[in-house]
Amino acid sequence: MDTFKASWTSPSNIALVKYWGKYPVQIPANPSVSFTLSKSLSKLSIIAEPDSSKEINVDFYFENELNEKFKVKIVKFLSTKLERFPWLLDFHLIIHSENTFPHSSGIASSASSMSALNLALLSLDQDITGHKPQAEDFFKEASDLSRQASGSAGRSVYPMLATWGEIDSIMDSSNFYARPVDKKDVDPIFHNYCDSIIIVDAGEKSVSSRAGHTLMETHPFAEQRYARARFNLARLLVAMKDGDMKTFIEVVEEEALMLHSMMMTSIPSYILLKPESLMLIEKIKEFRNVQKIPVCFTIDAGPNIHLLYPAEHKAAVQAWLASDFGQFKVIHDEVGNGPEHLKD
Ligand code: PMV
Repeated sequence: MDTFKASWTSPSNIALVKYWGKYPVQIPANPSVSFTLSKSLSKLSIIAEPDSSKEINVDFYFENELNEKFKVKIVKFLSTKLERFPWLLDFHLIIHSENTFPHSSGIASSASSMSALNLALLSLDQDITGHKPQAEDFFKEASDLSRQASGSAGRSVYPMLATWGEIDSIMDSSNFYARPVDKKDVDPIFHNYCDSIIIVDAGEKSVSSRAGHTLMETHPFAEQRYARARFNLARLLVAMKDGDMKTFIEVVEEEALMLHSMMMTSIPSYILLKPESLMLIEKIKEFRNVQKIPVCFTIDAGPNIHLLYPAEHKAAVQAWLASDFGQFKVIHDEVGNGPEHLKD
């Protein structure tokens, strides 16, 4: 038997309408939509060497060092995929993964790394079995597998803007995989939108997203939240098609604050925002009102602030960040083209 190799880069994404709350197995309680980023990437390669052990045999290197913690997670995931990839028992997988964003920068790497892993697995599958699906089916399956490994990762396999979850008005939407939003349905202002990530705290989150999703099961406002998210997603997609900045900003900021208000009102409650996060939110609103530049913020499950703005205002916004917020590390990212198959 031959040795095979597959390498992919895959980006992180930032949700505009948040997925928060799920049903088994990784079925989102409400649909979500995210920008795919361009600079915050994972690069992952798998070398598959013939192996006769008839077990799932993985060596996992993160940034060139063997990492047992990640390995255990990956072996657990792969063991649920033996029916789909029976060849997993015939190979020793040597996986190397690294991120282009600094370790502990506060940017979640599960979306980028889990999508890169599943894209690489599917590329290996093509080479090992000789079965080559159409590109559309390849990415749909990559999204489905990535979603099972880490919910929001399912959206990272597509460029620019991707939705995940059933949406009444969209026929081919699904809870099982994400779908790309067609470029013609997105005003050009959003095609190269900027996301400057202001790092308030680079440490690990005190409460994992897994625990956060679970707390939604008993949350007193869960049903209202899911209904509001569906409503917000519908109006956001229309606003993004029409280039309606007012509604875009209104929805995106409401979603960020509602995500955190869900955390603050769950039982038990918890708070991931820091005083600096709140200060930045105030300053961003003030800058928007005074400068008439349509900046807005969104926030992931952590204290860091994503500052979103049109590319035409890059110089002004980045100069403001440098002059007024020099104390924070900032990662200047923007909307990107999605994963890339690396051939060497
Ligand atoms: O993919 P998970 O299980 O880490 O959950 C992601 C949750 C948020 O990042 C807060 C929202 C989202 O839709 O990405």
